[in-house]
Amino acid sequence: MIVQLSSGKTIPVEMHKVRIVQKAFLVPIDERLKAIEAGGYNTFSLRTKHIFLDMLTDSGTNAMSDNQLAAMMVSDDAYAGCESFYKLTDAIKDVLGFDYVLPVHQGRAAEHLLSKVFIKPGDVIPMNYHFTTTRAHFEMAGGTVLEIFTDEALNTQSTNPFKGNLDLQKFKDVIAKYGREKIPFIRMEATTNLLGGQPFSLHNLREVKKIASKHGIPLVFDGSLISENAYFIKQREKGYADKSIQKIITELMSCVDIFYLSGRKSSCVRGGFIATNNKKVFEDIKPWLPLYEGFLTYGGMSTKEIEAMAVGLREMTDTNVAGSAADFVKYFAERFIENGVPVVTPPGGLACHLDAKLFLPHIPQSQYPAGALAAAVYLASGVRSMERGTISTDRDKEGKEVYADLELARLAIPRRVYTMSQIEYAVDRIKWLYGHRDLVKGLKFVEEPPVLRFFFGKLEPLENWGAKLAEVFKKEIGPSF
Ligand code: F0G
Repeated sequence: MIVQLSSGKTIPVEMHKVRIVQKAFLVPIDERLKAIEAGGYNTFSLRTKHIFLDMLTDSGTNAMSDNQLAAMMVSDDAYAGCESFYKLTDAIKDVLGFDYVLPVHQGRAAEHLLSKVFIKPGDVIPMNYHFTTTRAHFEMAGGTVLEIFTDEALNTQSTNPFKGNLDLQKFKDVIAKYGREKIPFIRMEATTNLLGGQPFSLHNLREVKKIASKHGIPLVFDGSLISENAYFIKQREKGYADKSIQKIITELMSCVDIFYLSGRKSSCVRGGFIATNNKKVFEDIKPWLPLYEGFLTYGGMSTKEIEAMAVGLREMTDTNVAGSAADFVKYFAERFIENGVPVVTPPGGLACHLDAKLFLPHIPQSQYPAGALAAAVYLASGVRSMERGTISTDRDKEGKEVYADLELARLAIPRRVYTMSQIEYAVDRIKWLYGHRDLVKGLKFVEEPPVLRFFFGKLEPLENWGAKLAEVFKKEIGPSF
């Protein structure tokens, strides 16, 4: 919850108490240098023991509530007909309003099943923006992803509250150009992850639905960050300030034909599902579920996680839970802005994003500025961020580099995990890095996997800049930090 202090300043205040803690480590810069060198300047290669604040992702890394942990203790491990599953279907019906549920082990498995059943070679799939796993699955099924975001979406220094909106005219143009039969569905991602966690408005979703319905195109909703999108609608869209998160979610869902999510984000567990009120959609996907995921009543999830998900879905409709990451992201971004460090605005749903094109303007996209920035942030602070730029965008079919629209280093905020002083520490070290940005140079691949290369790729720093940066850090801040 955002609270106003007597000075007029606002701060995010945690509406929970911390009763279980986990030890954190801050290894000195020389050890961090060794770790990032051994990991090919890829933050995915780092181990927890070398990381102070893990801001790689908010996926599966959130603090669970006491009620979630308690529910895990009473899970039913039956392979078929497991009672925990029926608690989940009840929660999905109550919160989202869907009758048919297909559980999967995580969000990308839902994308895999949707691709397998609905996408055929030559199809086009319009969407407000892609996520890495979405694009990979849809393309593997022979489809082409068409991103029809508004012009404002790529402006990282914007005040537009809904940069995740779909461009309605472009959507109409896509339908006119390709025809209904080439469009299996339209996909809307709640708080477009790769645009910096930017939401869409309810108004926009309703308009998208109107156009889609007119042409008989189903609307697929990626709700991995649904509670954050609903929270932003409450804060930013006229007429919603007094509506509950649950009410906003219900209004969102009235536009949706097929819903899926990664349960690892808003609902603070590990798992996922597809849900719908369309029996035929359910029946078309169902036969594939035991083959790829697991039987219908667990779908590859542990029954403990299914119990916790049923609780997590209900809890995410609490405004304080829905805003727990977003309020911290806002504070984080505002502190950077005060210090002149370029970040994506407005602050988004899952992370504070450093804009690497502005932070490191001297590094061309061919030398991966966002990857270099993520590595440099780790070196300067022990904070692990994630590259969300050209390294996260695979080459095209001819092997040519595809430059990403945005070059971002993502500092994700796992829900209810980090405190204000830890955020302040990160701001301080990254501010120091910004003052020494000229020391940071580009990267080049030494090992490049053919698909989703950002996971396992290995790179090396041009002109050995990592070691040079570490030397300056030791002189100015000290060798023991
Ligand atoms: N859709 C969105 C919007 C996501 O953010 C993610 C995952 C997925 C689908 C895939 O779900 O990981 O459960 O298979 N995002 C994670 C991240 C990986 O770090 O942002 P998953």
